[in-house]
Amino acid sequence: MKKILAIETSCDETACAILDEELNILSSVVTSQIDVHARFGGVIPEVASRMHIEQISIIVKEAVDKSGLKPEDVDAIAYTIGPGLIGSLHIGAAAAKTLAFFYQKPLIGVHHLRGHIFVNELVKELQYPLMALVVSGGHTELVYMENDNSFKIIGTTLDDAIGETYDKVARMMDLSYPGGPKIDALAKEGKAFYHLPTPKVDDFNFSFSGLKNAAIQLIKKEKEAGTLNRNDLAYAFQDTALRVLIDKSIKALKMYPCKQFILAGGVACNSYLRKLASENIHDAEVILPPLKYCTDNATMIAAAAFHYLKYGQFVTFESASEPSMPIA
Ligand code: KG4
Ligand code: ZN
Repeated sequence: MKKILAIETSCDETACAILDEELNILSSVVTSQIDVHARFGGVIPEVASRMHIEQISIIVKEAVDKSGLKPEDVDAIAYTIGPGLIGSLHIGAAAAKTLAFFYQKPLIGVHHLRGHIFVNELVKELQYPLMALVVSGGHTELVYMENDNSFKIIGTTLDDAIGETYDKVARMMDLSYPGGPKIDALAKEGKAFYHLPTPKVDDFNFSFSGLKNAAIQLIKKEKEAGTLNRNDLAYAFQDTALRVLIDKSIKALKMYPCKQFILAGGVACNSYLRKLASENIHDAEVILPPLKYCTDNATMIAAAAFHYLKYGQFVTFESASEPSMPIA
């Protein structure tokens, strides 16, 4: 059975995993830098790169040790080639290239968002055509896939990504980075009290900067008046932002009929988004990624890498990491 060792270092998690082709996880190690970046209110790229350098060899060794394999037992080395922070991407690329050179293994450069998509295979075999709603710190995309090697972006954000919007609104509410999980938790205790404007954009595109600014203004006003109810504010923001995502997904599925609809990316952890998707999407089977593998990890990179392996899509030692790499 084929096995892949994968490395993920695109943002603020240093991760390594080894999976076999049936997607049994032989090991998966993730170390997050969140506590350090939280002190600055967001990810500081230079700090992230330094921390990846400190962690990468420790994490790779731990993943290999836990798998019970030797590095020479794997069939390929995979790493996130983009998109992401360039300094961070370089650390994973250098580690992967070194392993591939030393152990004479083929090298696979995985697109980070394909990782978020294919981690859903841990839940269920994917059936095509499918629609993926990719929602992370840096991305908000509706991706239509006719097969496992075809990625058509039919909608994207015209300004801020949904995760980024969560983090900025949370910051204004004095919640620490990353704000998404904190808003999710507060909203559970909140009720429909505040009103925020629903973003209106044509086609299947999104826009969150207007909603972000409206939320920030409202928070300021309520803080000044001493009347801010954080739970209700979190509820209003989340309800407005996430309903847009689901409404657009429903429309997209009408125009592009699909067998399955999947969530992907860090914001796919969100309990309300998962609920809205399960309850409102009826035109396709809804698959929700395992919570543990929604935020950045290397299991997802290995899962995607098996598709690259299947099509013989390898990279060379000269291949450059790409901070704003398109998905196809
Ligand atoms: O996919 P990810 O780990 O990193 C990127 O590739 O960007 O996503 C991180 C994003 C952050 O913006 C974080 O606030 C958001 O995912 N996030 C959430 C939740 N958990 C993480 N957003 C809303 N609700 C959550 N429960
Ligand atoms: Zn991610």
